[in-house]
Formats: sequence, C-alpha cells, structure tokens
Amino acid sequence: MSFENKIKELLEKREQAKLGGGQKRIDSQHTKGKLTARERIHILLDEGSFEEFDMFVTHRCTDFGLEEQKIYGDGVITGFGTVDGRLVYVYAQDFTVFGGSLSLAYAEKICKVMDKAMKVGAPVIGLNDSGGARIQEGVNSLAGYAEIFQRNINASGVIPQITGIFGPCAGGAVYSPALTDFIVMTKDNSYMFLTGPKVVKTVTGEVVTEQELGGAMTHGSKSGVAHFVADNEEEGLMLIRKLLSFLPQNNLEDPPLAANDDPIDRLEDDLNAIIPENPNKPYDVKDIIYAVVDYNEFLEVQRNYAPNIITGFARFNGMPVGIVANQPKYLAGVLDINSSRKAARFVRFCDAFNIPLVTLVDVPGFLPGTVQEYGGIILHGAKLLYAYGEATVPKITVVLRKAYGGAYCVMSSKHLRGDINYAWPMAEIAVMGPKGAIEILRSKEIKAIENDEERLKFVIEKENEYLEKFATPYNAAKYGYIDDVIEPRNTRFRIIRALQSLATKKDVNPPKKHSNIPL
Ligand code: HXC
Repeated sequence: MSFENKIKELLEKREQAKLGGGQKRIDSQHTKGKLTARERIHILLDEGSFEEFDMFVTHRCTDFGLEEQKIYGDGVITGFGTVDGRLVYVYAQDFTVFGGSLSLAYAEKICKVMDKAMKVGAPVIGLNDSGGARIQEGVNSLAGYAEIFQRNINASGVIPQITGIFGPCAGGAVYSPALTDFIVMTKDNSYMFLTGPKVVKTVTGEVVTEQELGGAMTHGSKSGVAHFVADNEEEGLMLIRKLLSFLPQNNLEDPPLAANDDPIDRLEDDLNAIIPENPNKPYDVKDIIYAVVDYNEFLEVQRNYAPNIITGFARFNGMPVGIVANQPKYLAGVLDINSSRKAARFVRFCDAFNIPLVTLVDVPGFLPGTVQEYGGIILHGAKLLYAYGEATVPKITVVLRKAYGGAYCVMSSKHLRGDINYAWPMAEIAVMGPKGAIEILRSKEIKAIENDEERLKFVIEKENEYLEKFATPYNAAKYGYIDDVIEPRNTRFRIIRALQSLATKKDVNPPKKHSNIPL
C-alpha cells in the first residue's frame, strides 16, 4: 500500500471509530435526550484540546459470536485534554457500543488513563453511561472493574476524581463512582443502583421506578450518593468545569488562585442585624456566606442532602476555600447522622487537597432520639469530629450564634487545632442551652416552689442569669478559645486576613500506616 493510501486508511479508520456503534444508535441516543460520549467530551474540555488514546482497541472475546462484532474503541473513549488550560484525563463510556458495557479491553483503556493521571498528577474525570459488566465477557469484565476500583482507591487523596453519571450505572459498576470524590448526576436520564426495580420486586416485593430507586433526586436528597444534580448534561459538564476551578491538580499542589477585584475590606452592614434577637428564630446562613465571599459566588455541594449543614466552595481574595456552615433554617442547624457524614467527607476532601476550611457555627447541639441513637449518631458524629481534628489545612472558625455542648467541640473548635477562632458578639458558647441547664442545676429549688406562677418566674429569672453569664462569647474568649470577638459586618476582611496569615501554615499528624476513622 502506498504511503498516501496508508494515510487514507488511517483517516477512514478514524472516521469509523468516531461513529462508535453507528449512526442508528447515535440517533437513538439523541432521541432519548442524551448526548454521545464524544459530544460530552467536546463540551467538557477546552475547544480542540482533546487527545485520544486507544481509538483502535477492540475486545478479545470469542464467545456468543462476539468475535464477529468488533468496534474500534470498544465502547469507551479515553484520553487527555484541558479545562481552563489545566490538564485533565478523561474517559467517556459510549452507550452506542454494546450499551457502553465494560469488557476487559475497555477496562484496560480506563486503567491506562488513570495510571497516566497518577504519574503526572492530574485529575481524572469519568463520564458514565453503561449497561455494566459486558455479560459475554464473564469474569474478565469483573476483573476489569476490580482493576479500576483498585486505581480509584490508589488515586483517592492524590488526584481529584470526578464522575458524571449520564445514563445507567447499575450493579457493582456503581462502586467506581462511589470511590471518586464527586458524583454529578443529571435529572431524568441517569440512575444508579446496586439492584434494579425488577430484582427489588422479586426479593422484597417493593414496587419502585428506576428514578425513585436511583435517580438524581433520590441520590441528591435521600442517599447523599450524588453531590450535584444537574438539569441536563450540558449543565452537568459545566458544573464539572466549575468544580475543577477550585481544585488543585493533585495533593502536592495548592488550589489555583483566581484574580480578584472584589474589595477585601468590603463592609457588609446587613450582617450586623442578620441574627434575630430571639435566639429560637431561624435565618439563612447562606445569606452570610454569599455576603462575605468573593463576588457572592458559592458552589454548594450536596445542596439537597442534609440541608441542616451547608458545604461548598468559594473564594476569599481569589483563594479557594471549603465552607462548612450550620444552617439554622433547617432543624435549627442541629447535627445529626446525615449532616455529620456530609460535612465529614467534605472536610476530609478539602484537607486531602490543601483547601483551607472556613467554618461558620450556629449549632444547638446533636439531634436527640432513638432514630439517631439506633442509627449510630455516636459513630457518625465522631466522623466529623475526627475529620476536623485530623485536618492540617488552615482552619478558620466563626461562631455566629449558638455553639453548644459536644457540637461546640466538633465544629472546628480551638481544641481540634482550629487556627483562628472568631465569634460574633451575639455568640452563645456553653455546655447546654439555658432551659436544660436550669432544669438540672436548680431542680430541687424548682420542685420546692408549689405555686405555678412563682415557679415559672423563678425559672425565667435563673435562665436569664445563666444566659447573661454563659451565653456569651466572652467566657470562651477569656480562656483564649476564641481569638477575638469581631463585628459581623467586618467578617469578610477578618477571614481574609486570617487566611493570609496562614498561607504558609505547616502542621503534621503522627506517622502511621493509616488512621482508623470510625466508619
Ligand atoms: C452486553 C449489553 C449490556 C451488557 C446492554 N447491552 N447491556 N451488552 N452486556 N451488560 C447491549 C444490549 O444488548 C443492546 O444491544 C444495547 O446494549 C443497548 O441495550 P438496550 O437494552 O437496547 O438499551 P435500553 O433499552 O436503553 O436499556 C439499557 C439497560 C439495559 C437498562 C442498561 O440494556 C440493561 O438492563 N442491560 C443489562 C444491565 C445489567 O444487568 N448489567 C449487568 C449489571 S451487573 P443491541 O445489539 O441490541 O443494540 C454488573 C456487575 C459489575 O455490571 C460488577 C462489578 C464488580
């Protein structure tokens, strides 16, 4: 063959590979309202930056007549490119080829990009749309999955791993996304479950739809498996780009500084009046977050799951931070099982990737009751405590209002190596609220008063005394547990100054094989 024809052959093979499972299946993908794997990569990466690997890989299966059906690429598109000029490795499962099902060759392609990403220290983004293990390949497919899992585990805490779920993701296949740092799902077209509705009906008798069982809203609000829920694939892909803008390339780098023109000494007068005089009245802590961060921009993580705690990314003078804030608007901002797990995972992610933590505290304590105790709130609460205590990144805490009991200790207190701990003047830092405290401390005296009116008067008087004495930031400040009591409107400036002072912070944990976080 002449060289000219060889080049022609290459171009033809490329065109063939780009068609994946063929035009009919591409059309069917579009009819379902889904993009193809190539279209997804095109939207995700900077224009023209994609370099593909293994376009000509085919499977090696000879069972079920599969030797007659070989398709270039074998159902997954892999390679590297850039997002905002920064290197990322990517794989996108192609549903048009054997339903995106995973063969051994396909798994090897994914492993190759993961290995390369680890070597150079760049994030890996997986775009999933697959019928799971390629049934014809038997144990080879399972082996392929397990090889990917092992790489997900090795990469955890070394390079950011992000998964977009843009179609089916069922069976053990769900475990690769679950091992990654963030899962983005799209409404309506994506689902994740270990066993589908048919098996569920056979085994438990429950009747449930795919979406009810494992759709984006289910995982975004009930299970907490999904970190972001997007209305459509374009939005999901843009979300991944935005998320990456807060993250370093790997655990040895700092997160990228962004240009900032938002004045660092911007005073937010409204904050001086944002806390209601009545301590039982809620307010929206997100109003405080938006007010203090650069350009009022906040990327919330797990927005619809455990909304009594808020987690997400923002910037202070261009520096990315992870924000954790109790949300008085939901369940009075109490800590419970779900909120503890949510915040613990977020804190550990930030710590693994050198992202400073800013914690805004308004927490009445832990949620009491059998549901919480039987569900293991002791262990789950300990996760958050552990995560904060283990974290060595700069930790800045602002107590906005309540910080009661164990929850005071947990929420990035000075005693868990909080670096700079501020409080607003309306902060109440104590072992417990006035009602509980007076019931215990004055129980004999209360019981001894026979007249109802007098008893009530006595209780109110003692509660007020307690509030005056303990429900202030100054007791904690007296011991140096609070570094300063700050004016609310000046919070942005004080946080930025604190972050600047901690830019070169170095702290280490004792050497160990690994920790034993209460799982
Ligand atoms: C081989 C598969 C396949 C699979 C789909 N296909 N899943 N081929 N192995 N797992 C093929 C179909 O035969 C079909 O081929 C094409 O992909 C498109 O599939 P359809 O069924 O026509 O599409 P749709 O109606 O959209 O349904 C999609 C689906 C369904 C819901 C994903 O295909 C499905 O239920 N597939 C099986 C899912 C499953 O049970 N997988 C195993 C899970 S267990 P043609 O040639 O007709 O176009 C697992 C274990 C992993 O994955 C363990 C890891 C440790």
